[in-house]
Amino acid sequence: MTMKKIVFLTGAGISAESGITTFRDAGGLWEQYPVEDVASIEGYWRNPKLVIQFYNDRRRQLAGVKPNKAHELVAELQDNYDVTVVTQNVDDLHERAGSNKIIHLHGELMKATSSDEPNDNRCVVKLPNYESDINFGDKAKDGSQLRPFIVWFGEPVPMIELAAERVSEADIVVIVGTSLNVYPAAGLVRYARRDATIYLVDPSPQNVPNDMDIHVISKKASEGMIDVVNAIRNSSLL
Ligand code: APR
Repeated sequence: MTMKKIVFLTGAGISAESGITTFRDAGGLWEQYPVEDVASIEGYWRNPKLVIQFYNDRRRQLAGVKPNKAHELVAELQDNYDVTVVTQNVDDLHERAGSNKIIHLHGELMKATSSDEPNDNRCVVKLPNYESDINFGDKAKDGSQLRPFIVWFGEPVPMIELAAERVSEADIVVIVGTSLNVYPAAGLVRYARRDATIYLVDPSPQNVPNDMDIHVISKKASEGMIDVVNAIRNSSLL
């Protein structure tokens, strides 16, 4: 009996209760920093030192936060289901909660890469700890400036095809904590099979496709995930 497949599509909202600010809520990151300056490829080439420091600050924040109940419930489902986490988040909270199949669509704070060939795997390196700042002058393996392994606006999303394939194979898709504003990530739910069950957990859901049968749970991630786990377990008993 093969395990049922569940794909989670998570965004900043799943890390909100861990104390990491989201992007577009009131007081969000894009209210504090102009996104084009710190999260676009043009911004990086305009002022690499500013961008490198912005991600050093965000990486250091990880030392003071930990996974919340939502991350933990996602990881626990691995005991009885084939779970893949497709996240837009660059934090390591899904890893720390114990999830072991994670696709980071927008990169990872705990990795660095080449400025010339950011997606050349030979140049991608793991940073040992949260205090491992990238400094201007640090070199990647190809001799270019070492940069954060982050997918910025204006750059391709190399993992999107793999993520779409996983969604197309899923029996259950669970969207948690994303405003569904940013493509191509926001389009992934469209790859769900017609017979897949889809849940969405968000205290203020937005951009929810109205032509799809999506079970919307208007709660915070840690509470909403309890409802999702109960619904999945009950449906498995049918
Ligand atoms: N639990 C669940 N969801 C929450 C919570 C919470 N406690 N708090 C806020 N949210 C929801 C908000 O209602 C919103 O729908 O999380 C979502 C956060 O949306 P965004 O801030 O837009 O974050 P996200 O969708 O992940 O942004 C996508 O944009 O800037 C880029 O690369 C960046 O990966 C990011 C992408």
